[in-house]
Amino acid sequence: MTPATSLFTPVEADLQILAENLKQLVGNRHPILYAAAEHLFGAGGKRIRPAIVLLVSRATMLTQDITPRHRRLAEITEMIHTASLVHDDVVDESNMRRGVPTVHGLFGNRIAILAGDFLFAQSSWYLANLDNLDVVKLLSEVIMDLAAGEIQQGLNRFDTSLSTETYIEKSYYKTASLIANSSKAAGLLSEVSPERAENLYCYGRHLGLAFQIVDDILDFTSSTDTLGKPAGSDLKSGNLTAPVLFALEEKPYLEVLIEREFAQEGDLEQALRLVQDSQGIQRARELAAEHTKLAAEHIATLEPSASRQALINLTDYVLSRLY
Ligand code: IPE
Ligand code: IPE
Ligand code: MG
Ligand code: MG
Repeated sequence: MTPATSLFTPVEADLQILAENLKQLVGNRHPILYAAAEHLFGAGGKRIRPAIVLLVSRATMLTQDITPRHRRLAEITEMIHTASLVHDDVVDESNMRRGVPTVHGLFGNRIAILAGDFLFAQSSWYLANLDNLDVVKLLSEVIMDLAAGEIQQGLNRFDTSLSTETYIEKSYYKTASLIANSSKAAGLLSEVSPERAENLYCYGRHLGLAFQIVDDILDFTSSTDTLGKPAGSDLKSGNLTAPVLFALEEKPYLEVLIEREFAQEGDLEQALRLVQDSQGIQRARELAAEHTKLAAEHIATLEPSASRQALINLTDYVLSRLY
């Protein structure tokens, strides 16, 4: 479940503490909410976001240990991410996540919405307790962005006139905003210069965009088993991602199939084939590679350290998930 583990060597011990703390932080206000949260935190996930926060923390605190606030920020980041997944699985009617049944699948829509709200609210509470207004502002904006991204995606379903720019904007809201703003927030907790904070933000932004583009490619090229969540579901639900947007430029018939929402027998299969037979997947890979390159350039501005190197290696890992 965590293929990236060796990349995270400089913060491996920190991630173990994080895993313990996450379970305790959810608390036991109500058995069902507790069960729902415990369920997802127990299943793990790749923990890329808290690992980035911890690596940025260490890479910006070279002469001293990271503080309890850095650790709490990493925990909050994973909590916000997990909350967004609980809600996303309701929107996508998805029954599998992290290789286990979703909260939505196990407990139903109502509980999943409430459990997601609970996790968001709880992360806001821990965030406020960091007592750093700039960090509170950055992460509050992320929570708004996550909702804005899901709404934008919902409104654009089956819309073949969607531009690559709009797709990138949606991907920023849904994925890159959290990575960008939490990286910057980790820098602020280390009291880095404004210029350095901006570089950390840009690193997270580009890495996050690449991560989402790769995730969108894997939805076409990977299996449900490998992903731990249903494969092939984006196109079916009208979520037009990079491979499809590029394929539309060469395959006009794809537009017909999508516009009629795959109403006729065999439409979806034909559409999937058209994407496979186009340059769409290759062009999406190239777009992801451009973003990982920019991410690496922004993080290279930090002083050399094992943590900085891990952040650079992470840009390769994101692309390597494709092979
Ligand atoms: C899933 O994120 C949502 C996307 C942004 C594609 P991850 O692939 O990081 O999910 P987990 O945390 O490892 O389950
Ligand atoms: C993931 O969105 C949830 C957020 C980033 C808010 P997706 O629908 O694109 O991701 P998966 O494929 O379910 O993980
Ligand atoms: Mg989903
Ligand atoms: Mg979704």
